[in-house]
Amino acid sequence: MYSEKVMDHFANPRNVGEIEGANAVGEVGNAKCGDIMKIYMDIQDNVIKDVKFKTFGCGAAIATSSMATEMVKGKTVDEALALTNKAVMEALDGLPKEKIHCSVLAEEAIQSAIEDYKRRNGESDKDSKCEFCCHKCSDVTEE
Ligand code: FES
Repeated sequence: MYSEKVMDHFANPRNVGEIEGANAVGEVGNAKCGDIMKIYMDIQDNVIKDVKFKTFGCGAAIATSSMATEMVKGKTVDEALALTNKAVMEALDGLPKEKIHCSVLAEEAIQSAIEDYKRRNGESDKDSKCEFCCHKCSDVTEE
């Protein structure tokens, strides 16, 4: 049912945890199942130097979060914004149809973190880029 890559990223997720002093933090909830992903980034000169995540969700959500963080690490914010859940699924050799919604979490969390980065730098006045706002972002303290 799951590809070897999905099982590997689920069993050995990369980039799990928090970044102390992160200058970009995003958190989104999945409207379909209530699962949550929080992502932390250290962005220097528009390049994502480090990224970590915590996902309270199913195996597919954890695997896609892990792969997505690997795919944006070292990229510019614009490159990271262009990352789609489809590209993450392809990198994982696919997901079962009924688990496709799980991959949306990582894409939205990355967008939310970058929106936070832009907001902190005065480049955006949007409150949140989450399509389905879980209102947890108000817990994030501004530096
Ligand atoms: Fe919730 Fe997969 S079932 S993210």
